[in-house]
Amino acid sequence: MTAIVFACLIPSCGSRPGAAIADPAFAKVAGVLEANCVHCHGDNRLSHMPPINDSAELARLVGSNAWIVPGKPERSRFFQVVTFGDAIPGAMPPTGHAIARQDVAILRHWITEGARIPEGRIISFHPRGKRPRSE
Ligand code: HEC
Repeated sequence: MTAIVFACLIPSCGSRPGAAIADPAFAKVAGVLEANCVHCHGDNRLSHMPPINDSAELARLVGSNAWIVPGKPERSRFFQVVTFGDAIPGAMPPTGHAIARQDVAILRHWITEGARIPEGRIISFHPRGKRPRSE
């Protein structure tokens, strides 16, 4: 197995909630969501938007007929929307603010490997960085 390097590459890393997550693969996923999704998909979201406030809510999005289909990123709406071109309605984040290619790869890898979420203590997600624009 290749060693997963989860070093603190950014100065504020030590204080970042993701840094406290023991599972390195999931810590990366949390980092992607916190930088790109949680700002809008938290408490003030519209009712039809999937909630992503913490690991328990995320876990409820996982299932064979759910937003996140373990092992099948292409069938996961949650993943599809981050790969849509800007012109396609439903692209996430909305209109013209696609997430970085390596962030897409992190989500794809996580879902392909079964979309595992650490059990036990619920991990809260906190918006990190600027709120992605919605127009
Ligand atoms: C700027 C705010 C904003 C950000 C950032 C954002 N979303 Fe959304 N999201 C929305 C809105 C608004 C909707 C509802 C869209 C609609 O009604 O068409 C939505 C809907 C969705 C849906 C449901 C799509 C559907 O087909 O109904 C998914 C899944 C989703 N977002 C995932 C994500 C993911 C994953 C991220 C991060 C990569 C993200 N969103 C980032 C605002 C946002």
